[in-house]
Amino acid sequence: MQYRQLGATGLRVSLIGLGTVKFGRNEALQYTAPPTLPSTRALTELLATARDQGINMIDTAPAYGSSEERLGELLAGQRDAWVVCTKVGESFESGVSAFDFSPEQARRSVLRSLQRLRTDRLDVVLVHSDGNDVDIIEHHGTLQALAQLKSEGLIRAFGMSHKTVAGGMRAASDCDVVMATLNVDQQAELVTIEQARTRRCGVLIKKALDSGRAAGDATRRSRSLQFVAAVPGVSCIVVGTTDPDHLREDVAALTRAP
Ligand SMILES: NC(=O)c1ccc[n+]([C@@H]2O[C@H](COP(=O)([O-])OP(=O)(O)OC[C@H]3O[C@@H](n4cnc5c(N)ncnc54)[C@H](OP(=O)(O)O)[C@@H]3O)[C@@H](O)[C@H]2O)c1
Repeated sequence: MQYRQLGATGLRVSLIGLGTVKFGRNEALQYTAPPTLPSTRALTELLATARDQGINMIDTAPAYGSSEERLGELLAGQRDAWVVCTKVGESFESGVSAFDFSPEQARRSVLRSLQRLRTDRLDVVLVHSDGNDVDIIEHHGTLQALAQLKSEGLIRAFGMSHKTVAGGMRAASDCDVVMATLNVDQQAELVTIEQARTRRCGVLIKKALDSGRAAGDATRRSRSLQFVAAVPGVSCIVVGTTDPDHLREDVAALTRAP
């Protein structure tokens, strides 16, 4: 496994990370088919495989249903082996997303994530954007609330999982970490990633396999992962799989990379 610095955070992350949407949520998602929630046993095996493969980065969110709570249970006794990323701003209950980017809710959300994840600190906390990135950055005070939580030692780094290039450019200048969409068919964020690189802002990649659409065919999958890994500035590719064999294949695709 290759490891990279997450910008200037001091965190060293594996090139492949594990995304956990499917750990706790199986509705209103962009996958081609609705996933089935995995058993605790299956997730225990998945995390053991991830660690065997050298993966140390794990990404969750309050909006991923029961993902944080399940991770809290699964990570017991191995918290220090992981760089844990979660989010604020979106929640998902009874099949519906709700957004609140206020500073007060950001603090409440972080305290709730600490409790759910059964930990005393969060390594990375991102604003989970609803698409109005610039408005959130300029008018809601969410990033300032996260900066305050960082100064209190509850979180180590903060940033934004953005949805627009304009928002990504702002976040890459103002934050420790951004989470950007990048795959062979979606390259608009290359400019954001370059901005992040010059600012020493860490870059997590989401949807490198186009939420599964680039995953079925081995050649296309490898090409997509290798393309993303080769972009200067990319710190970690967060892959959203619940299948240990798929995770091994994804890691192998990068081990074979030139
Ligand atoms: N903040 C945000 O707004 C946001 C949005 C989207 C995603 N994310 C984060 O980014 C992560 C990744 O995004 P994503 O899950 O949408 O997309 P992704 O990583 O591009 O694709 C995941 C899909 O690819 C499949 N897959 C992976 N490896 C495979 C393999 N070797 N063979 C066959 N299928 C394979 C997975 O199915 P199997 O489970 O069957 O392997 C899953 O359905 C998420 O889990 C989440 O942590 C964040």
